[in-house]
Amino acid sequence: MLDLARRALANAHAPYSRFRVGACLRAASGRLYAGCNVENAAYPVGQCAEATAIGAMVAAGDREIAEAVVLTEGAELCAPCGRCRQQLGEFARPEARVHLCGPEGVRVTTTLGELLPLAFGPDTLGRSGAPRRRGRRSPR
Ligand code: THU
Repeated sequence: MLDLARRALANAHAPYSRFRVGACLRAASGRLYAGCNVENAAYPVGQCAEATAIGAMVAAGDREIAEAVVLTEGAELCAPCGRCRQQLGEFARPEARVHLCGPEGVRVTTTLGELLPLAFGPDTLGRSGAPRRRGRRSPR
């Protein structure tokens, strides 16, 4: 996962912040999905690395994040931003592990539940939310 996050980070489009981020998700199916941040000249339109990876995962048919890696290059520990925590929470259980990494490897391992306590989620709406254990659907 770290290697895929490294490769994604190397492709980050971050000409404005110069802050490159790579992410890799392991779905419950075992498949891995990587992403990088994709900035935009219209700054608020930029997308975080986690969101890119989530988009790839959903497009491929997976719906449950079992584990996540977030990789940055600086000396400071980088935890997912608030928006990313909410986006991860749509597809991850509270116990899903989130590894905060630097070039040298894992710096801190935490969980989605620790990052997003008292979460607003599908349960709040009285729904079961995104299908959690569905496999890939075959095309018709
Ligand atoms: N960024 C991410 O990709 N993920 C996060 O969780 C935090 C921030 C990106 C967004 C922007 O391209 C750059 O880091 C600086 O904020």
